[in-house]
Formats: sequence, structure tokens, C-alpha cells
Amino acid sequence: MCGIVGAVAHRNVTPILLEGLRRLEYRGYDSAGIAVIAADGSLERVRRPGKLRELEAALESALVEGETGIAHTRWATHGVPSERNAHPHVCRERVAVVHNGIIENHEALRRQLQQKGYEFLSETDTEVVVNQIHDFLEQGFPLLEAVRATVGILEGAYAIGVVSTCEPGRLIAARKGSPLVVGLGESENFVASDVFALVGETQRFVFLEEGDLVELTTESVRVYGKDGGRVERPVHETRLAPDSVERGEYRHYMQKEIHEQPVAVEKTLSGRIHQGKVLSAAFGERAEAAFEHVRAVQIVACGTSYHAGKVARYWFEALAGLPCSVEVASEFRYRRQVVQPGTLFVTISQSGETADTLAALKAAKELGYAHTLAICNVPESSIVRESDSCLMTRAGPEIGVASTKAFTTQLTALLLLVLALGRRHALAAEQEAKIVRELETLPAQIRHVLQLEDEIAAWAELFGEKHHALYLGRGAQYPVAMEGALKLKEISYIHAEAYPAGELKHGPLALIDNEMPVVAVAPNNELLEKLKSNLQEVQARGGELYVFADAEAPIENVPGVRILRVAETDEVVAPIVYSVPLQLLAYHVALIKGTDVDQPRNLAKSVTVE
Ligand code: AGP
Repeated sequence: MCGIVGAVAHRNVTPILLEGLRRLEYRGYDSAGIAVIAADGSLERVRRPGKLRELEAALESALVEGETGIAHTRWATHGVPSERNAHPHVCRERVAVVHNGIIENHEALRRQLQQKGYEFLSETDTEVVVNQIHDFLEQGFPLLEAVRATVGILEGAYAIGVVSTCEPGRLIAARKGSPLVVGLGESENFVASDVFALVGETQRFVFLEEGDLVELTTESVRVYGKDGGRVERPVHETRLAPDSVERGEYRHYMQKEIHEQPVAVEKTLSGRIHQGKVLSAAFGERAEAAFEHVRAVQIVACGTSYHAGKVARYWFEALAGLPCSVEVASEFRYRRQVVQPGTLFVTISQSGETADTLAALKAAKELGYAHTLAICNVPESSIVRESDSCLMTRAGPEIGVASTKAFTTQLTALLLLVLALGRRHALAAEQEAKIVRELETLPAQIRHVLQLEDEIAAWAELFGEKHHALYLGRGAQYPVAMEGALKLKEISYIHAEAYPAGELKHGPLALIDNEMPVVAVAPNNELLEKLKSNLQEVQARGGELYVFADAEAPIENVPGVRILRVAETDEVVAPIVYSVPLQLLAYHVALIKGTDVDQPRNLAKSVTVE
């Protein structure tokens, strides 16, 4: 999704802005641009479609230097990816704006501004913002007031950064519905979409709240709240080191993140389980008090995080005896709800900034849920700040667009929640102790699966020419199959669908032929025999089967069936363990297809617009 960086300093800010954009690349984008106020007071701008290297190449031959500037990576919403539509947008060489979000009333504003003689040079919604600010400047407003007046008439979501030749040395930014942080330096200050962009410059951050407006100079940062008055926002020190988002020895961030899973899971468990129990302190006092009254669970999330919720539903109902519903956030937020008393509302989000999940959370707070709990990977995120309590996954920064370690740590955190709630309901102490023991060995089990990488890479060779794939699972492995299919789709661009294996004969079997690889997740559980019958249905129709099975599973290597043995795994944690080979399969297929693994086409890491 669009990334914003801005800086005001006593040095040339162009390298700071470019480094910030480089660190924001992971969010996904299709064009990039920069604008600075040059020493002679003029506004210098360069924009390019495509990757950041295109912009950097263009900057080699253009003198773009100045002490105040803004920059942007654009993920197209309104208007195709092109230089014309790339940010910063400039009005009459006087004002430049970068924007992340969607201005919903842009058509009405555009008409009004056209009547005043403003010309529109792009197809974007953002151009109304820059022209509107210019219009207020023309009316004699200082820059801060011109921006304040403009955001006052905007509808929709925005994080914006604004500079103007009228007031060089001043950077104005504002947020509503899209993330924005302020980085505090020594006689220099910054704004950005997230802290990653700025960790090369500072460790000190202010997280802006909804409706905040901020004015930055080299010597001051003034924040104004949504009622217009000055407000103080706390300063946070981040623990993120500048190199914590480096790729190291790995070919891609995704590969690195797949291999980080044992440690990420270990960290997520650390200090939260002890002597066969989940510690109450893991969730905080407020959540513990609320848990006493929980009678049902409603989970809301998107994409991979939604799949984690789907797995957890099996756990909540089977282990804790609690009714659990799971819904994608974009549906939940626009549907009329019947809220049962005592329902815990759980959001799951890696980024904590997903617009649909955040909106669903806000809606839930109006609807009378007993308590809102976020399972999230980013402590300073909007979803964490808006929730009554949170359980942080400790996956560390996830840069690859395809979520991997976020998923397995979300599942780990969800299992802790299931245990914490379950012991108040159907879960016996011995059962809790047994699952805690399994959790303790989980990092080792994942390490074991990672050793299968070469064999999985050899399987991947057989997917290179395929156009479609089916993924099958039963029970809690069905959402694991969904997640495996999502991984393959998003990074290899092979169309993949997941089905609960029992559904095959109700339609998808018609698709099976020898061009259709069928991937099955088949741990040794009570559903294995049923799954085997489903696999025979595929085999009988010439389908190619790729089966991930337990070492001891009674399933045979016969022509048309390839089996990869995963070490014997307990049924409860099996969905976490079996997610890993599916990630590796997708990764190696993408390598064969030669796609942009970490930044697949059309996708964004953090989906901050609807
Ligand atoms: C999965 O690989 C994707 N990155 C995507 O589905 C993602 O899980 C979804 O956009 C939700 O993001 P969140 O966890 O940051 O809320």
C-alpha cells in the first residue's frame, strides 16, 4: 500500500527520503516519487512508474536536493500506475502532497475546484487535496491552516504529507484512517507511514492518533488533535534496529521469514507458559477479568490472518467448548449483527493497520461485545491501540508480502487463548498440560519440517508449467489448505483453490485431470481414512497427488501419488506444523516461475485502504 516519507533537516533530505522509500518497498507499490524545496526556494520533483531503481536512475541526472521534502511509493487505486498519477502531486509549482488512503468525495471537490479554474493533470483522488490546499493558500491562509481547512472537508481515509514553497522548512502532515508516525531527530524531524522507514535515522517516535494534524520544523514538532487544540502525544523508543529488516544470507525475505519460524514461535511462547499452564499474565489483568464472562468468541480478520482464525475455530469448539464464529472483516463490517451476550471479539492482524479489520473493530465496539482482544504483530499499531487488550505475536518484522511467520505465530497465540479460556469451560487441566508440552516442542517440530526444503523444492519443479492446483484438507487442516492455496496464488500466480476433501465429489472433481496437481494435507488423525478415500477419487481420475503425511500415516507411495513424510505430530498443533511445508512449496514454485517473490504483482503488505 502507499508509503509516505517526509523530512525537514539542516542537510539534504533526498538520501533520507530514498532510504525511507527503500524500507517501505515491502508494502507493495507500482510507482515512486520525491519532491523537495530546493535552496533557491523552488519545488523540485521527480516521479517514475515501476520500481524504486527507476526513480533512483532518474535522480542521477536531475538535481533534486533540499532540506525539506516528501516522497511516496504508490499502490494504484484511482488511475493506472504511471508517471502522471504518481505522487507527489504538485499544484502550480507551489504545493506538493503525498497521500495514502482514498478521498471518497473527490469527485465533488474536483468539480468545485475546476469551477475555480484548477486544472487536473492526473486521474487520482489525491490531486483534489493539493489543489484545495493551494486554493486556501491563495485565500491567505498560512500553510498549517490551509491543510487544516482542507482535511476538514475531506471524506474518506488519508495520511498526507505537505510541503510548500510559501513556507520552506515546514512540513505539515495529517492522518485519519491511514497510519502515520513522526520520527524525532536532533534538529531534524520526519514523518512516515511506519517506523521501518525511519529506523535508519531515529529510534524515537510519536504515533499520531485519528484526526491528528502535525507541524514539523527542524526545531519543533507540534501536534493538534481532532478538535483543533494542541495535544501532547507520548514519545516511544523503538527496539527495532536499523538492520533488523535486512535479508541476510537469504535469497528473499520470504525464505528468511519461513526459516525464522522456530524462533518466532519460541518468542511468542516465551514467558507465557509455565509448568503445564498458560500464565494469566499473558493477556493482562483486564482481559483476565473479562475472560470470566466469555461465553462465545467472534473472530474477524483478513487473508492469512482470517485463515488463522478459521483454524482457531476448530480449537475453540473442540478444546474449550466455546462457540466460535470467524468472518472476513470486509463482510463483517457491512452486515447486521446479532451479538450474543458474553461474546469476546477477537481481531487477528499481522500489521495491525488493515483498514477492514480496523473498521470492523470500531464497529464491534459500538455493537456491545463483552471485550475486544487483538492478536497482532505490531505493538504500536492502530488495532492494538483501539482494542481493550492484546496478545502480541513476536514474529519480528515481516517484510515479504506473503505472510508466513505471522501465520504460525498467530496460530500459536490463538492456541494460548484457547487454553486460557478453555480451562474456564470444557478443558481439563491434564489436557491443558499436554497441549502446553506440545507447544514447548513446536519450535523443534518446525525445524524438522524445514529440513524437508530440498525435497519440497524438487516437487516444486513439477508445478512450473501448471496453471491450476487444488489443495485438500479436512477438519482444522482445511484452513491450512486454504492458506497453502493462498500462498501459491499470491507469489507464483498459479490459480489455486482449497476444498475440504469431502466436498470434492460435489463439484471440483470435474476439474481433475493429469494437468491438475492436487496437494493434500494428511496428518495421521481420525479423518485420515476418509481423506484417503477422497484421494483415491482424485487418483482414479488421473489427478497428480502431492501428499504431506505423518511419518507413521498408513498411506502408500503408489503411481500418481507422491508422499512427503512429516515427523509424527500431535493433532492439536498439527495445523501449525503442516503450514510450513505448504509455504516452502509455494516459495519454490515461485522461484521456478521467476516471480517477484517478496513483492508480488498487484499486492500490498499492509492493506490500509478499503
Ligand atoms: C497473505 O499472505 C497476505 N499478506 C494477506 O492476505 C494478509 O494476511 C491480509 O492482508 C491481512 O493482513 P494483516 O494480517 O496485516 O491484517
